[in-house]
Amino acid sequence: MTGEAEVELADTAYESALAQFLGRYEGYAAAMPDEMRASEYARLDSLGHTYLDYTGGGLYAESQLRAHHELLSQGIFGNPHSHNPTSLAATKLVEEARDKVLAFFNADPDEYDVVFTMNASGALKLIGESYPFEAGSCYLLSYDNHNSVNGIREFARRGGAQITYVPVRKPELRLDEDLVRRGLTAATSCEHRLFAYPAQSNFSGVKHPLEWIDEAQDLGWDVLLDCAAFVPTNRLDLSVVKPEYVPISFYKMFGYPTGSGALIARHEALAKLRRPWFAGGTITLASVQGDGWFNLASGHTGFEDGTVDYLGLPAVRIGLEHLERIGIENVHARVVGLADWLLERMSTQLHSNGAPMFRVFGPETMDRRGATIAFYLLDPEGAVYDVYRVEEMAGGRNISVRTGCFCNPGDGEVAHDITPDEMSSCFSDPEIPVTLKDCQRLITDSTGKVPNTIRVSLGIASDFADVWRFSEFCDGLRDVPASKI
Ligand SMILES: Cc1ncc(COP(=O)(O)O)c(C=O)c1O
Repeated sequence: MTGEAEVELADTAYESALAQFLGRYEGYAAAMPDEMRASEYARLDSLGHTYLDYTGGGLYAESQLRAHHELLSQGIFGNPHSHNPTSLAATKLVEEARDKVLAFFNADPDEYDVVFTMNASGALKLIGESYPFEAGSCYLLSYDNHNSVNGIREFARRGGAQITYVPVRKPELRLDEDLVRRGLTAATSCEHRLFAYPAQSNFSGVKHPLEWIDEAQDLGWDVLLDCAAFVPTNRLDLSVVKPEYVPISFYKMFGYPTGSGALIARHEALAKLRRPWFAGGTITLASVQGDGWFNLASGHTGFEDGTVDYLGLPAVRIGLEHLERIGIENVHARVVGLADWLLERMSTQLHSNGAPMFRVFGPETMDRRGATIAFYLLDPEGAVYDVYRVEEMAGGRNISVRTGCFCNPGDGEVAHDITPDEMSSCFSDPEIPVTLKDCQRLITDSTGKVPNTIRVSLGIASDFADVWRFSEFCDGLRDVPASKI
């Protein structure tokens, strides 16, 4: 067959798959007209990119850049810590962004405050370093967590708090609900109790029940709901669910600006945090000779160290307005349709000998999950294709996927059946730091297990061509032995 005929065939297959897809997911085309992708995200197609790492970072629309540039080019903005006209102009922009964040998440300003941080990790560190972890405190957290939530355990440990992990269970990598309840009820003697879990997993896409927030609060827990992977494609309504602490990163929602995130926190929960230091902007008074300092009253000012990103923060308002124009429900509807199609396709893509090409880690349907899919690609004999090589091959076609453990070791360890002893082998000598790749190799060499994963995730600008191209790329591995790629 000539090259041209092959392309034609591929086009026909694509057109017919698209028609079937549109027939099946009627809401998809209505949710965001393809013209929006063609105008706002034109660079994806003009540069020939298939972007499938939205849980890593979202993409910005061109109108966001123009609006931000226009705003900056028409004003003079100075450091907001002063009271001169340019400083007041900057303060206005920062406060507009803060109000917009509250409004976007339907958070009552009488209940919630917004602390601007560098990213979700910055928000999590603020909680970790300031939460009253001491002997008699408890930190309960899920295996399924980003490392920036796991890392809070080091503050908890240093303070003498009790730390308890609730495991996830295969095959769906959901939390064991009985153990969650047991963990929540077992800690009645803890004076300060912090319960941390993600609204949506950045590994498996699992959506954990938001009902636990009320349950935990009724039992005296402060709830840290990590929404970094949830809010880019789901509505978070803080008038309906009311966790104490919500960390987010804005670039995951709308791509730009990077370097801005927030801790959205209930006022009383923020007041409970005790900062371990002071910085410019966070105090009412500090003295060298007097050797003293007073923290500012509760509220965001006491948590924003130094000068906030006062030129970047207006882009947060612009990004949220962009998301409002598209409608987060529309983004949700689109990614759900695309992920559903992809999951179904993964379950039916087989080698000629009938062996499956994919093993998905997490739910295989869209029931209580989002559009983040973790998986292996398998060869006809069931051997795992080297994930780094697959990433490289996909990269060769301008397809961006993610590989590794996604900073979520708990889910990865359960997904790949890694035992505590096997994991401990990577920590046998605390003096010799071991990298992720070294650890993976150590475990594979000693057990044959492959503690490594591929992830695709969909988001604001995803369209059918993206999932189709990825699927076609995987088709190219049909019947190819793992040793031959
Ligand atoms: C669920 C979750 N929490 C926290 C983070 C940390 O976000 P950042 O790297 O922006 O601080 C991430 C990043 O991927 C995440 O997916």
